[in-house]
Amino acid sequence: MSDEAPLLQVRDLRTHFGTGDCAVRAVNGVDLSIGRGEVLGIVGESGCGKTVLALSILRLVDAPGRIVSGQVLFDGQDVLAMRSRALTALRGRDIAMIFQQPKASLDPVMRIGHQIAEPLRLRGGRSRTDAWREAVELLGAVGIPNPEEKARAYPHEISGGQAQRVMIATALALRPRLLIADEPTTALDVTVQAQILELLRERCRALGTALILVTHDIGVIAQMADRVAVMYAGRVVENAPVGQILGDPAHPYTRGLMRSAPVMGAVQKRLQEIPGGIPDLTRPLRGCAFAPRCDGRREAGPARCDGQTPPPFMPSPGREARCWLQGSAPAAQPAPPGWS
Ligand SMILES: Nc1ncnc2c1ncn2[C@@H]1O[C@H](COP(=O)(O)OP(=O)(O)O)[C@@H](O)[C@H]1O
Ligand SMILES: [Mg+2]
Repeated sequence: MSDEAPLLQVRDLRTHFGTGDCAVRAVNGVDLSIGRGEVLGIVGESGCGKTVLALSILRLVDAPGRIVSGQVLFDGQDVLAMRSRALTALRGRDIAMIFQQPKASLDPVMRIGHQIAEPLRLRGGRSRTDAWREAVELLGAVGIPNPEEKARAYPHEISGGQAQRVMIATALALRPRLLIADEPTTALDVTVQAQILELLRERCRALGTALILVTHDIGVIAQMADRVAVMYAGRVVENAPVGQILGDPAHPYTRGLMRSAPVMGAVQKRLQEIPGGIPDLTRPLRGCAFAPRCDGRREAGPARCDGQTPPPFMPSPGREARCWLQGSAPAAQPAPPGWS
């Protein structure tokens, strides 16, 4: 592939739980891409499909979940068509993932040094001694004090923050080209969160690893991301460089998220919850999923907001928002195939 091609492209991806009328449409037509070394933030309220999207990219969704259509291209390779051997190689080497609960991801009866050394040995071809030595180095690189001693510890002997450092060391040991981090700091103490995020950014940058950072916290996005995809009800409703999103959000949902987020370091403003809740994902979407909660619905035209799914409008180059407020000539802009 040429260097200009995105590292990862997701096209019209749909992942449902169950079938027929009761299917939960957790991911309902997602398009996004991420460039080499880029940090893409995926943000949205709880239940909007972020985790299912992250798992779908690696085909890790368990039954009754099922990818029903779409494409995932990693460096031009069709992930959804891969045989199990290629998929195992992809997961072990090219794309790594870390989760919200670091301790749940660690093997409780294995020394942490071994947890880092094992993939180095099995998939990285290192000898036992080299793998252990490298594991100790990696523990040092992720800020674990006395790494030689800590490498012999078991997961219950370290803190949650240290466990997440270990997960980061493990995930990045084989220098993957993409790391997917799903709410990596949500379970940690507030004081530790910023340090872990900084570590993630620094390590990914040092290795040239692209990062998809999934979070419900737009403050985390502000600190970390180059580009942001805002998810609502299984779809990406706005996708733009972080400066544009924070400075001038185009989608009413993005504005709502920002009004409901505490701003670090600023005098605490009154936070405004977005009224209402996310829609029932078992109901087929007609119109814009956010319309029932939207303060721009009247302005954009209720008949249109309730009746037609907005296609991706481009308020400015490099930026997309699926909102009728952005569409000056909606009749001339038919929805792309698959949008209904
Ligand atoms: N195993 C499952 N079975 C049925 N529904 C599920 C399952 N996992 C997730 N979902 C549903 O998919 C939707 C998206 O969930 P999720 O991706 O976990 O949201 P987020 O990570 O944004 O909080 C939710 O409505 C959730 O209830
Ligand atoms: Mg989640």
